[in-house]
Amino acid sequence: MDADPALIRPVTAEEVRPLRHRVLRPGEGYDKTAYAGDLAAGSVHFGAFAGDRLVGIASLYREGRDGGPGWRLRGMATDADVRGTGFGAALLAACVGHVGAMGGGELWCNARLAAVGFYKRAGLEVVSDEFDLPGFGLHVIMAVMVPAA
Ligand SMILES: CC(C)(COP(=O)(O)OP(=O)(O)OC[C@H]1O[C@@H](n2cnc3c(N)ncnc32)[C@H](O)[C@@H]1OP(=O)(O)O)[C@@H](O)C(=O)NCCC(=O)NCCS
Repeated sequence: MDADPALIRPVTAEEVRPLRHRVLRPGEGYDKTAYAGDLAAGSVHFGAFAGDRLVGIASLYREGRDGGPGWRLRGMATDADVRGTGFGAALLAACVGHVGAMGGGELWCNARLAAVGFYKRAGLEVVSDEFDLPGFGLHVIMAVMVPAA
């Protein structure tokens, strides 16, 4: 099954939380699934749907690296049983599309080392040394400059 990009649509900050919980923060308190900036002006959350089921999520925040302008991607996750079928790439494409539609700018994220290859396929590049996020393992910052659409 390949994900249809048409099945990506904005969802609320509340809707992304169950998937964050089971994929990104299993075993942690549900309160940990609300991220700073989730409800801020300019933040946007995308959901990927297989029928009625929300199977993937990604969130964008108006937060540049080092306090400058830009967009931070966070909370990128797909359910284990749909991985490799295109939902992650479709979500990332929706995020890039949103940044472009909003005038472009740098899109960046803290990427788990295991996910670096996924982001590279979408054009992001590693722009930092490895660093440890306690409890989440080694990460690198990855970024891409998105042109205005
Ligand atoms: C990373 C993640 C979001 C990818 O989602 P997905 O739905 O599997 O992605 P897709 O099926 O759209 O894959 C797109 C492409 O990336 C590749 N890919 C997917 N995950 C990859 C990975 N971890 N490393 C390298 N390549 C990867 C796919 O093979 C596919 O390649 P193709 O274009 O040649 O076919 C998903 O594996 C996930 O939720 N992982 C656990 C949570 C996580 O690590 N999130 C990222 C936090 S930084």
